[in-house]
Amino acid sequence: MTEKRNIPHRGLEKVVAADTMLTYVDGQNGKLYHRGFDMDTLAGHICYEEMVYLLWFGKLPTKTELENFRSELVAQMRIPMQVIEMIKLAPPKANPMVVLRTAVSAMGMFDPDGGKNSEAANLRKAKRLVAQVATVVAFYHRISQNKPIISAGAKMSFAENFLYIFTGKQPTKLEKTVFDTTLVLHADHGLAASTFAARATVSTLAGMHSSIAAALASLKGPLHGGANTRVMEMLEDIGNLANVKSYIEGMLSDKKRIMGFGHRVYKTEDPRSHHLRKYAEKLSKNEANKKLFDISHHIEKIVLEKKGINPNVDFYSATVQRALGIPKEFYTCIFASARVAGWVAHVMEQFKDNRLIRPTSNYIGGFERKFVSIEKRS
Ligand code: COA
Repeated sequence: MTEKRNIPHRGLEKVVAADTMLTYVDGQNGKLYHRGFDMDTLAGHICYEEMVYLLWFGKLPTKTELENFRSELVAQMRIPMQVIEMIKLAPPKANPMVVLRTAVSAMGMFDPDGGKNSEAANLRKAKRLVAQVATVVAFYHRISQNKPIISAGAKMSFAENFLYIFTGKQPTKLEKTVFDTTLVLHADHGLAASTFAARATVSTLAGMHSSIAAALASLKGPLHGGANTRVMEMLEDIGNLANVKSYIEGMLSDKKRIMGFGHRVYKTEDPRSHHLRKYAEKLSKNEANKKLFDISHHIEKIVLEKKGINPNVDFYSATVQRALGIPKEFYTCIFASARVAGWVAHVMEQFKDNRLIRPTSNYIGGFERKFVSIEKRS
């Protein structure tokens, strides 16, 4: 194994790679700002469409602007028939994030603005992507369960539509609010690995669909968006409140990572986690969900006590999504369906002042090695 060297900014920690007007993550104080608004003043007070509007246009919409924007998004939720057929061809139990990444690449081929990078074309593509990603996720869920796909209804909000075409059931008022706010909470988060991947990709002028496919590839990993699925696997594995202490202490003494904990930027509580904890508790009406919530709460207490590490956005999003009837394999896709708004916002921002993103590496491979011809190599 290569010897670990003390590389300044290993993992690009604290490196500033871009100016942004979109989001500020205040890791010391556990605060999150979007376009100047504190997330704590937005969460629970705005819907996802307002959040997307804020990110893209820099202001909260008026009632009329919101209605128009919502109708536009909902109207764009249709995806090409060829993409539906392609989704149907996915092998049984294919990872939904792989299906989504592949579908986004495919949608790039069918997009009427494919190949165009003007500001107007990018905005049209951004709207289609936000709308269509949700549809792909919902359709793949229905198809994987051998259930018929459902079309979006013009009168419902984006979140309500999404949950309805995903589960096939009209959500309750509480479910609607929680899902909507979950999307708001996940919409953007500074230069996370996936957002960096999106910006780095588009900095080569590769185009919006390519950059969103790159972002999806990055989000899938368990150190990033893939953590929420792993959290539920862990909760199921623990199974019982009485097992929490020994399970978590065992993991910590084996130097294993507890999924849903820790963050590169937050040195205190992730503010999104606080909102999701509250919703997880509110939704924990039946015994099974209450049990999962109690296990989660106990894990939080132990990890904080033993390691001083706080939960991140993925920890309570697992129990929230379970209570909303979303299977664990789809948790990361729900994250992606919200974050796509942030990714496209960053892509549009990158286009406005683009310079190829091309960091350098610290070469440790040696010099002046003696060349040996193939006949003489041992
Ligand atoms: N469980 C146990 N220990 C953890 C931990 C976790 N979830 N997260 C960090 N640590 C520990 C590391 O083991 C390391 O300890 P050490 O210095 O004794 O080796 C220390 O904290 C620093 O970790 P490091 O990997 O350098 O931090 P990072 O900034 O690179 O990593 C994450 C950030 C998110 C990758 C990391 O916290 C993690 O792996 N979390 C679990 C996966 C997760 O929930 N991802 C979603 C993020 S939103």
